Parts: sequence; C-alpha cells; structure tokens
Amino acid sequence: MTVVLESPAPRAVFGRGARPRRYLMCPPEYFTVAYAINPWMDVSQPIDTTLAWQQWEALRRTYLDLGHTVQIIAPVPGLPDMVFAANGGLVIDGTALSARFAHPERAAEGPAYLAWLRSAGLRSATEAEHVNEGEGDFLVVGGSRGIVLAATGFRTAPAAHAEVQQLFGRRVVSLRLVDPRFYHLDTALAVLDEHTVAYYPQAFSPGSRAVLRRLFPDALLAGARDAAVLGLNAVSDGRHVVLAEQATGLAAQLRERGYQPIGVDLSELLKAGGGAKCCTLEIRE
Ligand code: ARG
Repeated sequence: MTVVLESPAPRAVFGRGARPRRYLMCPPEYFTVAYAINPWMDVSQPIDTTLAWQQWEALRRTYLDLGHTVQIIAPVPGLPDMVFAANGGLVIDGTALSARFAHPERAAEGPAYLAWLRSAGLRSATEAEHVNEGEGDFLVVGGSRGIVLAATGFRTAPAAHAEVQQLFGRRVVSLRLVDPRFYHLDTALAVLDEHTVAYYPQAFSPGSRAVLRRLFPDALLAGARDAAVLGLNAVSDGRHVVLAEQATGLAAQLRERGYQPIGVDLSELLKAGGGAKCCTLEIRE
C-alpha cells in the first residue's frame, strides 16, 4: 500500500490580506562583486561568500515558513548578479516577459531566465524587444484589475513600458528615478498589498512624485535612513513584509498600519546593491 503524505500545512495564517505566493530564487553560488554598475558596488570591498549563502538561505526559509512556494533556477558560472532573480522577468496571469539587461555584464542572464520561464508551465514566455530589468523596474499593484508601475531613468527603457502594456493588457504608469543609489524601482518603492505602497519620494522626479501622491494618497513614506539600507526592497504577501532588518523606522511604520514586518539581514548582497526583493521574482499564475 502506498502511503500518501500530505504536504505540511503552512505555518502562517493566510487571510487578513495575505495570499500564498510562488517565488523564484537563484542561489548565490557564483555571487561576488566583480564589476560596478551601481553606486553600491565596490570591487575592492571583500565579500564573505559563505555569509552570503547563509543570508540567502535564511531568506528562502523565511518564505517557506510563511507558507510560500520557492522554486530555484540553476545559477550560471560567470554571472555573479544572477542571484537577483527579480530582474529576470515579469510574470502576470501566467504570461511572462523576459528581461533584456542594460549592461553587457548581465546580458547573458536574459536568456538563462527566459529558458527557465519557458520550462515553468506558464501560458506563454515572450522574449523582450526593449531593455527592461524585470521586476526590478516593474511592480504590479492590485489584483485582476491592477496596474503596473514602471520605472525608467537608469535601466529600463521607456519603450519597454509600452511593450509591457501591450503584452499584459494592463495599464502601465511610467515613473522616473533620479537618484543613482535607487537605480531600480524596487529599491525605492514596495508594494504592500492590493491598494498600498511604501516609497521614498526623493528617489523620483517631481512629476513622478505627484503621480504617486495622486495614485496612493495613503502610501507609507519612507525616510532617508530606511531607504539608504534598501528597506524598501521588500517582499509583501499582503500582510507579512520581509525587509532589511536595519530598516527599523520603516518596520515601525508597517507595524502601525497592521502589517507584520519580518527583518532579514542581507548585508553581503547589499554590497552589490540588492536586498530581499531583488533576490525574489514572483511567478503570478
Ligand atoms: N548588482 C545588481 C545590478 O546592479 C543588483 C540588482 C538588484 N536587483 C534589483 N531588483 N534591484 O544590476
């Protein structure tokens, strides 16, 4: 007789806004800082690769303990930034768009992530025509009627915003980033639930700030200190918000609003300009 083992019940209680998620992560096997394509990266600064592994594994465990699914893409030698899975694509309603990286150092990650997306049992996976760095610069807010917030300024080309609108049939709101420390949208803005975001206004152009104010009058506004530890590079399931443990002010703001902040230490990945969200691509079926 075959004994069928039931999968363990998720330890976290969903409901109260939280939804189980499917995430893609890439182990930091080849992670290092070998080049500098953002102001956080300093090739002369040593990286503790063992610690990077432990920190990444703790992040993965955090998602599993919350009851989420984590899938793994095989890391490719010679692609030290591949650990930042958020940049690998954008997946909404089972439709995927691959990334096309702005810098030649990361170019080969595009096809690697596309191959994974093609094997993931999704409805479709399309190769991008224009430069875009996936969920680094595209963030989905809202459910089936939701919109896509899209950034340009450092990496993703404005033409990619139109490409996303065409492919997904979602309204795309273009925003301009102006501070090189916040070179991706997900370093300056976090989606907390279907209606709420948190962001650092100074990372955006005056016009984009006005757009965000109009779209999200109740947004959480992060302070300079929390932004400077990439506290906004956070992953929320609607209730639990996984973010840099150094972002204590933002954690307090989140708690006040009824979210449950969960601090993680990703100090080694921060040396490449990445945090929790950068390591995580959401696969929306
Ligand atoms: N070193 C990487 C780069 O500059 C970090 C990417 C961080 N990813 C993110 N989603 N913000 O491209």
